[in-house]
Amino acid sequence: MTRELRGALIGCGFFARNHLHAWQEIDGVRYIAVCDLDKDRAVSVSNEFGIPAYYANVEEMLQAEKPDFVDIVTQPATHRPLVELAARHGVHVICQKPIAPTMEDAQAIIDACDTAKVQLMVHENFRWQTPMRETKAASEQIGELFFGQISFRSAWDVYTSQPYLATDDRFIIYDLGVHLLDLARYFLGEVDQLTCQTQRANRDIRAEDVATILLKMRSGASAIVDLSYFSKLEHELFPQTLVHLEGTEGSVTLDRDYQLTVARSGEITKRSVPPRQFSWSEPPAMNIQESVVAIQQHWVDSMRDGTTPETSGVDNLRTIELVFGSYESAETGRPYRTVSTR
Ligand SMILES: NC(=O)c1ccc[n+]([C@@H]2O[C@H](COP(=O)([O-])OP(=O)(O)OC[C@H]3O[C@@H](n4cnc5c(N)ncnc54)[C@H](O)[C@@H]3O)[C@@H](O)[C@H]2O)c1
Repeated sequence: MTRELRGALIGCGFFARNHLHAWQEIDGVRYIAVCDLDKDRAVSVSNEFGIPAYYANVEEMLQAEKPDFVDIVTQPATHRPLVELAARHGVHVICQKPIAPTMEDAQAIIDACDTAKVQLMVHENFRWQTPMRETKAASEQIGELFFGQISFRSAWDVYTSQPYLATDDRFIIYDLGVHLLDLARYFLGEVDQLTCQTQRANRDIRAEDVATILLKMRSGASAIVDLSYFSKLEHELFPQTLVHLEGTEGSVTLDRDYQLTVARSGEITKRSVPPRQFSWSEPPAMNIQESVVAIQQHWVDSMRDGTTPETSGVDNLRTIELVFGSYESAETGRPYRTVSTR
């Protein structure tokens, strides 16, 4: 596809603004319409971002506008019907994470896109942060990896901008763990088995806000993914993910404020690997916002080159299985063995 891509947004809520700002940084894409069940939201986003058409009904938008792709930024329970609808219209799909509330829905999303021969990319953006790309490149210099720790600990108030996080019956693994489990796969490869323990430290919310997950990778490496939204620390790091990787030849540590340390053959190198900033970046979320630009640029590149995006539906099925496997392990007290990678 060499001509300009025509995109349409579904869902004009909290996170959609980051998508729309990011699209404005990317050449070769034009947004032709936005849609939200709440028409006032659609109107206000259309005015703010200079997008010519707005709708309160997705099917009407697809029929009238015939976009090349839709960008779905709604909550996960709505993803399956929306992707199936887009696929029926022969429209390519970007779908926010977590892809779906069950494995069955996730598989149905993939099947619908396969059948319709449309491209599907899950908007799994954490691996697209500059600090993560730099950490990955450095990790390729330290031999065979045998250990990793991927950590996100904060007491940031995420409930004001996303009130559903306080009331849904699943929280930190589903909403945030999905990103860190994806990072574990990005750095260390596929997972064979995991065990998970969850806690609800904040009594004012409904579901778990602390989780500790031990992963046995298929390579034999071990990894820990730890998550908390109740950690009152000396330095509030939201929304930074810290990473430590050990290999047969050295180690790589991504520490707070994007400081990357590589220890290799007795030599220590330290450098800063900060996220890119844009005119619309809102500290401290620059790393999240720049990763939205990077993944959307990757989508445009994939569409142009006819290649499969890194976080395709099939790829992301392996990540979402780790999310559901973590809940199962926490509930049963037993290890969960993965099936989607066998
Ligand atoms: N990658 C990240 O860093 C990140 C951060 C925050 C949220 N998210 C994800 O983004 C998604 C949306 O989250 P949010 O906080 O913006 O939600 P939100 O509730 O603020 O916004 C969702 C919007 O979708 C609209 N909507 C729902 N069903 C619709 C339909 N059938 N047709 C048209 N519009 C519809 C709602 O009216 C609402 O305005 C979630 O999957 C969430 O996990 C990702």
